[in-house]
Amino acid sequence: MVPAYKEPRPAPVAGSKRKAAGLTMNYRHIYHAGNFADVVKHAVLVLILERLAARPAPFFVFDSHAGLGRYDLTSAPAVRTGESAGGIVRVLAAVAGHRPPPGLAGYLAAVAALNDPGTGPAGGGLRWYPGSPRLARALMRPGDRLVLAEAHPEDAAVLRREFADDAQVAVHHQDGYLGLKAHLPPRERRGLVLIDPPYEDGDEAARLVAGLAIGHRRWATGIYALWYPIKEQAWVWRLHEAVIALGIPRVLAVELTLSPEDRGRLGGCGLLLVNPPWQLDLMLAELLPWLQRELGTGAGGVRVAWLVPETPPG
Ligand SMILES: C[S@@+](CC[C@H](N)C(=O)[O-])C[C@H]1O[C@@H](n2cnc3c(N)ncnc32)[C@H](O)[C@@H]1O
Repeated sequence: MVPAYKEPRPAPVAGSKRKAAGLTMNYRHIYHAGNFADVVKHAVLVLILERLAARPAPFFVFDSHAGLGRYDLTSAPAVRTGESAGGIVRVLAAVAGHRPPPGLAGYLAAVAALNDPGTGPAGGGLRWYPGSPRLARALMRPGDRLVLAEAHPEDAAVLRREFADDAQVAVHHQDGYLGLKAHLPPRERRGLVLIDPPYEDGDEAARLVAGLAIGHRRWATGIYALWYPIKEQAWVWRLHEAVIALGIPRVLAVELTLSPEDRGRLGGCGLLLVNPPWQLDLMLAELLPWLQRELGTGAGGVRVAWLVPETPPG
């Protein structure tokens, strides 16, 4: 029996009030940029964006926890953890001289576009790693729109500089969960909401679920991608149960683990995709085993499974 989450608490507190409310803002994504979890998240993200860009009508993207936009892998924090060595650097080494697997070409092209020609394994031209905002921007056409929320004041300032003078991108120094209320529904009829929090507060999963409920109530036809860490299987089950309990149809769970359950350490990651593009599940069922093999050491596995099918069980 999986215990259910407590009732999600009301919308979280924004900006400077966070500290007073006991919420921390220590997380900085630069320490993790380009790691295996970023590769998985961003490869899936690009596949969704490619499908949105395949049809002529404009699309909208809301990135509720946007980060910096792009990351300098030669900066001191990134070098200190060296996490990209187990992620993008490994993937680039695997595809060097080979045709990338179907489904990865768009993501790799977006990484290469930020770097000098001939981007390859570390030392071979890889300096900039695109975060979700840069990846979304890479796939946008004139007329598409990107709205970014970032709560960390310094990261929000960097993000604002990154997209200064870009009329198709709006940057908000804002709590991303409040942003769901502020920016949804968009005037465009199609698009994506990425919710990618840092999980530094114990109740982040409850806020994620509450955020999805709010977003979906306002814009039921949008695609939603919710990233989550896999450190402990029971925690993942509780998250899934809470999402199932919302009664939202068409929820796909996509997971990649590199090690068996390993309490406290990031052994894998997952994405819950609401309204994923048609046959994305089949595409991911082909791509993820390749990523798992190249990023892993023989343990762990992948999962692509409908958590809630087209019509939720009554
Ligand atoms: C995992 S990182 C985002 C990475 C980014 N989505 C990407 O894929 O490149 C999480 C970000 O959320 C920010 N953050 C934390 N709490 C937030 C909140 N309530 N609203 C908006 N941003 C928040 C952190 O400062 C951090 O930059």
